[in-house]
Amino acid sequence: MIQDKIAQIREEIINFDLQNSTQLEDFRIKFLGSKNCIKDLFSDLKNVANEDKKVLGLELNSLKILAEEKFNSFQYDQKGNKSLNKRIDVSRPSESSPVGSHHPLSLVRDEIIGIFKRIGFTISEGPEIEDDWHNFSALNFPPEHPARDMQDTFFIQKDEREMALRTHTSSVQVRVMESTPPPIRTISPGRVYRNEAISARAHCFFHQIEGLYIDKGVSFADLKQTLLHFAKEMFGSQAQIRMRPSYFPFTEPSAEVDVSCSLCNQKGCNVCKYSGWLEIMGCGMVDPNVLTACGIDAKKYSGFAFGMGVERIAQLKYRVADLRMYSENDARFLKQFQSGI
Ligand code: DAH
Repeated sequence: MIQDKIAQIREEIINFDLQNSTQLEDFRIKFLGSKNCIKDLFSDLKNVANEDKKVLGLELNSLKILAEEKFNSFQYDQKGNKSLNKRIDVSRPSESSPVGSHHPLSLVRDEIIGIFKRIGFTISEGPEIEDDWHNFSALNFPPEHPARDMQDTFFIQKDEREMALRTHTSSVQVRVMESTPPPIRTISPGRVYRNEAISARAHCFFHQIEGLYIDKGVSFADLKQTLLHFAKEMFGSQAQIRMRPSYFPFTEPSAEVDVSCSLCNQKGCNVCKYSGWLEIMGCGMVDPNVLTACGIDAKKYSGFAFGMGVERIAQLKYRVADLRMYSENDARFLKQFQSGI
């Protein structure tokens, strides 16, 4: 078979030892001389079926080029010593150097920030090492209140004080309310920590975005419409939301928000566990106790707050089932987000 012969000659060219001028001459005669073996194959081409001729012809040409390039890359000086003659083809396109990509969590965080920025929300940030007041007390978690156990906390000593790694970005809403007179319309992205065993579904650190809107006359209808707008921007215009009553110490009433499953168009799939809905965040009307603790007149002002996990939204958007992927820095995973640059 001509294909086998081509493969065999290619191997021979690649493995041919070129250590001295005699070997170089042998190489030239065998592969480039007037009766070289590649030429023989060119004459065999006439016995090949017409439709195969083109491909085989190209392969034979590349074999010839391989032999010529190998021959040309070796040159011997007068004493017969080998010296490599590197020919530089200045017209050859350069090899592209590898580029990095944005992390999927950054892409999703920036998309969420963009949606809220366009409707007038500012961005605020706070520290990851928090005191009890900002992470718990001001948010209406009294000492010994069982709700503190909802979030397993990492405690640390800092400057002789007991501090916590913040368990949620709700701590930033306290800082904003303490320092800014209403109206307030802000979102707070950031990393949070919880003392949890690492698995596909839980991690000891992850990312949240908190939202806060305080003004005169802010109602639950405003909250609902804002979140519906967010869901449509994030998941497409067909997206719907539903709210289920829930409990958080810092909001009253509180709700959990589900978005319609865009993976199965609500027909039911294993991601939405055949319910057609996916939980994406917690929210509610800011509890008057929280407004008062932060120095805002609860008789004059009302507001809503919400908090969502960035990993959760990214999981839905990119269908990444395992939370650990986001912090393992496996280049094969990260490369898939290169187009998002
Ligand atoms: N802080 C809550 C958590 O970490 C999320 C949350 C729920 C934030 C309701 C809110 C809210 O602002 O109103 O699970």
